[in-house]
Amino acid sequence: MNEHRWPEPETRIHRALAQAGVASRRAAEVLVADGRITINDTVATTGQLVGPGDLIRVDGRIVSPEPLQVFVLNKPAGVVSTARDPEGRQTVLDLLPRDVRLYPVGRLDIDTTGVLLITNDGELANRLMHPRGKVPKIYEALVDGRVSAETVRDLRRGVELEDGMSLPARVEIMERLHPGGTWLRIEITEGRNRIVKRMCLAVGHRVQRLRRIRFAGIEVGGMRTGEFRAITQDELRQLRKIGGLDGLTSAPGLDVDVDAPVRRPKTPRPPRAI
Ligand code: URA
Repeated sequence: MNEHRWPEPETRIHRALAQAGVASRRAAEVLVADGRITINDTVATTGQLVGPGDLIRVDGRIVSPEPLQVFVLNKPAGVVSTARDPEGRQTVLDLLPRDVRLYPVGRLDIDTTGVLLITNDGELANRLMHPRGKVPKIYEALVDGRVSAETVRDLRRGVELEDGMSLPARVEIMERLHPGGTWLRIEITEGRNRIVKRMCLAVGHRVQRLRRIRFAGIEVGGMRTGEFRAITQDELRQLRKIGGLDGLTSAPGLDVDVDAPVRRPKTPRPPRAI
């Protein structure tokens, strides 16, 4: 039965329930308030701490804790970054271990490559995706044509898009290709759908290739596309800080596989049946 006992670290009951995938943190608070949760057979109270070895039940059913997992994937092109695809295309989750429920932290377009975080910590994922968090993201974009200094200034200030102006961005020209094409480095803090492509198109340049080289300070380093690794403790601390979770009592993540070697997916799976 040990696998059902709460592992380290100590955490608040509603966070423990959210981490175990029982409910969102808010919904878990309601379960606690409704007296449906017990810790070691005693009805739990709001904000109660759960420590190593405790046994949690919901309506009498034992809750099995999942160790926290956060991976960084160097997303290849041709793979969708949703958890499921109604068209049965390969998803990023097909590239990772299947033994826990995982969520991609935000989306990259099917043809975009680069840093994508994937975790079973729904709360961390939500914090990192929330527009209020203004999480920094850096992209390298190869666009059509010769981008002028004036266009770079426009992109930096913000350009008009159908769903409102883009926020101020850091934009640099990395390389001008001959006969045409320009590599841009674009740092933004928003995550609207197809934002980089739409920003570039708004100033007359179509994106031919797009890769994300950094998300919330996390980089793929030497990994090839399709490879993934567990993030390090330092990276986890950094993510929790950026997500505004560092001041909380709990610090899930001690189970993260520190400095785990890069892993390569086995042979690609066939698309899932619809
Ligand atoms: N902006 C885009 O246009 N596409 C992505 O995949 C990510 C950011």
